[in-house]
Order: sequence, then C-alpha cells, then structure tokens
Amino acid sequence: MGMNGSNLSVPMGRMYISEEMREVTMDILESGSWIKGPESKKFGKEWAEYCGAVGGSPCSNGSVALIAALRVLGVKHGDEVIVPSHTYISSATCISIVGAKPVFVEIEEEYYTIDPKKVEEAITQKTKAIIAVHLYGQPVNPEIFEIGKKNNIPVIEDAAQGHGGKLNGKMIGSFGDIATFSFFPSKNMAVGGDGGAITTTRMDLVEKIGKFIDHGRTSKYINESLGTNFRLSEIQCGIGRVQLRSLDSWVIRRNEIASKYHDSFESLPWAREPKIREGALHAWHQYVLRVPDRDKFQEYMKENGISTGIHYPIPCHLQPVYLDGGFGSEENLEKTERICEEIVSIPVFPLLSDEEVEHVISTIERFEG
Ligand SMILES: Cc1ncc(COP(=O)(O)O)c(C=O)c1O
Repeated sequence: MGMNGSNLSVPMGRMYISEEMREVTMDILESGSWIKGPESKKFGKEWAEYCGAVGGSPCSNGSVALIAALRVLGVKHGDEVIVPSHTYISSATCISIVGAKPVFVEIEEEYYTIDPKKVEEAITQKTKAIIAVHLYGQPVNPEIFEIGKKNNIPVIEDAAQGHGGKLNGKMIGSFGDIATFSFFPSKNMAVGGDGGAITTTRMDLVEKIGKFIDHGRTSKYINESLGTNFRLSEIQCGIGRVQLRSLDSWVIRRNEIASKYHDSFESLPWAREPKIREGALHAWHQYVLRVPDRDKFQEYMKENGISTGIHYPIPCHLQPVYLDGGFGSEENLEKTERICEEIVSIPVFPLLSDEEVEHVISTIERFEG
C-alpha cells in the first residue's frame, strides 16, 4: 500500500490487446502467408496515407528505418549528418552505422527538440542530411524544413515518438523528405513485437525504400541495388492495421491526460512543466517534468506505487560509444547536459484510468519539492 493508503500501482505503459487483434493474428497464421503478403502492402499504404506521405514501407524497427532512410538518401562514409544529442541513441548510431559522422547540436530548451539556429550554424559542405526528432511527441520547429530546402539538404523526421501528432493541421511525417517510425511496444501504436515504418513525401524515393528493405530486388532472383532484409512480418502488419484504427482516439486521450496534468501542475513551485509548441497537436509519447531533486521525486513516486522514467539520462554525445573514436561533439551542449539531470517522465499512456490519473495528480501535488 502506498504512503497515502492507495493500493493503486501505476506503470509507465500497458499493452492494448483486442479480440480483433487475436482474430487477425490467427487468420494470418493459418493463411500460411507470413511475409510479403497482402497485410504488408495494405499497412504500408494505410500508414503512409495516415501520415500524409506519398508512400513507404513497414520495416523491422525504428532503428533500421533510420538506417534505410540514410541509405536511400545516399549518405555514406565521410558525410556529416546533423542530429540533436538529446534523443534516443538510435537517432545517432544510424549515422555512424552508414559510415557518416553525427554532428550533435543543441535543443530548444522549452520544447526539447532540435534548435534551428544551431542546425544552420552546423551546416558544412559535408552535411548530407538533418535528422529532426519529434521527441516526446512534440512536433519539431518547422523552420528546420525551410533550412533543409534552402541549403538543399534532405531532412529526416525521426518520428519514433510522434505517431498521430500534428503541427498547424499537418501530420508528423508529412514535413520532411523521409519520416521514420517505431512500433516498439511502448510507443503510441504497436504491432505485437519490434516494428517500424519508413514514409516519404517524395515520389522518387518510394520505390527505393521498398527495394532497400527487400534486398534491392526487382524480381525474385534479381538484386538490382544494395539492400537487405528489413521487412516486417504479415502478422505484425495485420496487428498494426488494427491498432491504427484506434490511434487518433489514443492521441486524444493522451492530450486529455496531459491537459489535466497541466491544470494541476502549473502552479507547483518546484516543477517545470512541458510546453506545447504553438499550433501543435502534441502526440504526448512522454509527459516530461523537470524536477531539481529528481532522485527524491522518483523515490517518492515509487513509494506511492507510481512508475517514472528518464528519457534520457545520458545525452548521445556523452555515451561511451561516442567518447572515443573521434565522434565527440565539438560544440558545448550545455542545455542538453543540464536538462538530462532534471527530466523525469510520468505515466501518460491512453489506457490509464481516470482514477489512476487522479492518483498521479494527487500524489505529485503532495510532494514536498
Ligand atoms: C527517438 C527514437 N528514435 C529511434 C528509435 C528506435 O526505434 P526501435 O526501438 O524500434 O528500434 C526510438 C525508439 O526507441 C526512439 O525513441
């Protein structure tokens, strides 16, 4: 029992499993068509349409989606790619995996997303792409896409946390040249395992993406260009199609919870609340507070049965993988390093009950920060 006498135990996420998902899974299993069948085609089409893109493909996960995106854009050894350091490590390692160099830049502190001014300053002759991460579900500053166009540099939206978010009525995934998504179980939408998708707003990239994730094939025995197997299974695509039908309502529920949190936490003197970009429908993959004494806060939440998380405690440029090998950032990323000490994520997933939301609120309100 928690300190306030509540028996509630609130996790950071909970799986959505429906009868329809069970039926689809069994039907596909029994059909014997486990890969490259009708579900993959339909899911690829429906997902691209949902995102306001012209095409794309489901793929194995959000990390390989980023690798595929860089490959189809021709990014290679010796090139530079601009990326925020405050993100999940995949946004950076995809760059190193294709042999290019991640150039880490600062974020806009109040929105947690890449700072357009810093992007402009970081552009060199070697810059071949920009990765803009819609972190926590916050749409990135749209100036990034103008900077990309002006300098003829493609922009990849890393939308692994942005499913269903919008800016000025335009879907996340419809802004850049390419967008990549993850359907990891905790994401805004899932596929019953690891999963991902790549979408594009450019007709010239549609076929390239489809080919890259399937061995560069033009027919069964002809491998025209370099590719590999980054496909997603039929069962997972089928599950994804069912989940997609609920995505909008889940994003609405996430916003409802976030707005209750906002009303309750805005007057707390010890916490800094997340800000929403003007014109945004935030996808609220994470609801992130800034709390100076984070250890004490997390311990207190745990004692009250509420899980919390840190997304992410170590910025990419300070990860061991980037401290050696000459990839360390040249720039001082003071804001990124500062916020990593204070950020803490609290449960905001759509299956939270009203009672659980109230428990989170009343617990936080009683915290002596
Ligand atoms: C911002 C970001 N990019 C990329 C990824 C990688 O996705 P996956 O875990 O599906 O490989 C994630 C997911 O964890 C993420 O949050």
